[in-house]
Amino acid sequence: MLIRPFFLERYFAKHEFSAPYLLSSSDCDGWAQAEMLGLADPQARQLWEGLRLGYTESRGLPLLRREIASLYPGMDAEHVLVAAPQELIHLAMNALLEKGDHVICTYPGYQSLYEIAGALGCEVERWQANESEGWRFDVEHLARMIKPSTKLVVVNFPHNPTGCLPARKDFERIVELVRARGVHLFSDEMYRFLELDPRDRLPSACELYDKAVTLSGMSKAFGMAGIRLGWLITKDRALYERLTQLKDYTTICSSAPSEVLALIGLRAKETITSRHLSRIAGNLRLLDGFFQRNADSFSWIRPKAGTVGFPGFLRTESPADFCERLVQAAGVMLLPSAVYEYESPHVRVGFGRENMPEALNRLEEFLRTGR
Ligand SMILES: Cc1ncc(COP(=O)(O)O)c(C=O)c1O
Repeated sequence: MLIRPFFLERYFAKHEFSAPYLLSSSDCDGWAQAEMLGLADPQARQLWEGLRLGYTESRGLPLLRREIASLYPGMDAEHVLVAAPQELIHLAMNALLEKGDHVICTYPGYQSLYEIAGALGCEVERWQANESEGWRFDVEHLARMIKPSTKLVVVNFPHNPTGCLPARKDFERIVELVRARGVHLFSDEMYRFLELDPRDRLPSACELYDKAVTLSGMSKAFGMAGIRLGWLITKDRALYERLTQLKDYTTICSSAPSEVLALIGLRAKETITSRHLSRIAGNLRLLDGFFQRNADSFSWIRPKAGTVGFPGFLRTESPADFCERLVQAAGVMLLPSAVYEYESPHVRVGFGRENMPEALNRLEEFLRTGR
């Protein structure tokens, strides 16, 4: 497959492990393995200690699939396929799409959600978030975009990079639209469980519609990006079978230690996510103050969920030049909107990390002094 570089990942590859302050990461700090093991119940502890490092079951450890399914009312372990989230996007796009299909995807967004479809020869249309309406996605606009050749609608809520979380009635209307036309729905829910107000949490697409497939995983809400583990969950049996066949051509099966660690993390979900949510709430308060003080440089729409936001960049230089100067002079990594191929100048800020206050102070100092 001929596919363009993943611009955001290339940018991270350049700076993530050399810049001392990461102010644009989308994950919460990685948990220490020892601390995570300390949260294990006796069954998971026994699994960990007795673990054999052979091949694992291709669809995923049954106990883990059961734990995952329990997050989604009406779903069971038979609906769950375990793999790395990025790998699962690949599998789903390859399972669902053929050259010439029309695909609609939320935009700006995580590049693989539309890039793989483009590389497969699909006609990809971008469903744009409206900044002037607080990064709202206009569902009636989506209704007008769907056409007879539309095979797939791809959405990502809570949204990377804007932090948009639609109202429940808007989300249900999206499902209604695809259902009425028999179109598949790929719902990237990587940032679910990080809603600042839990009453805003949306039902998962897989619960609402048989031709929906939900993506989620351990990287963001659980702070376990390094175990490279996530899942797809769908009631569509034909799609599920196709996904399992394709996985034989990628990783075949998941890492045995990662599966047990994911089980431990999921069973400790409340402990883990409540720690992350209180950090996020504190960091967002600091960001509110920062953006108020620096309203000549940035415009700010406060995210409702997740770990990232997408402030407008109001200075005369390009965000890319500014971010480059910032990382060189102050060691702070921000993400310029160019990595999203988003024309209007913005930067992505991440607020899931413990040391965000320090990184933000450095950015403010840089704005004042150029150092
Ligand atoms: C919206 C979205 N989907 C999928 C992924 C991929 O997740 P992972 O890095 O765990 O493979 C990311 C990672 O940043 C993301 O932001």
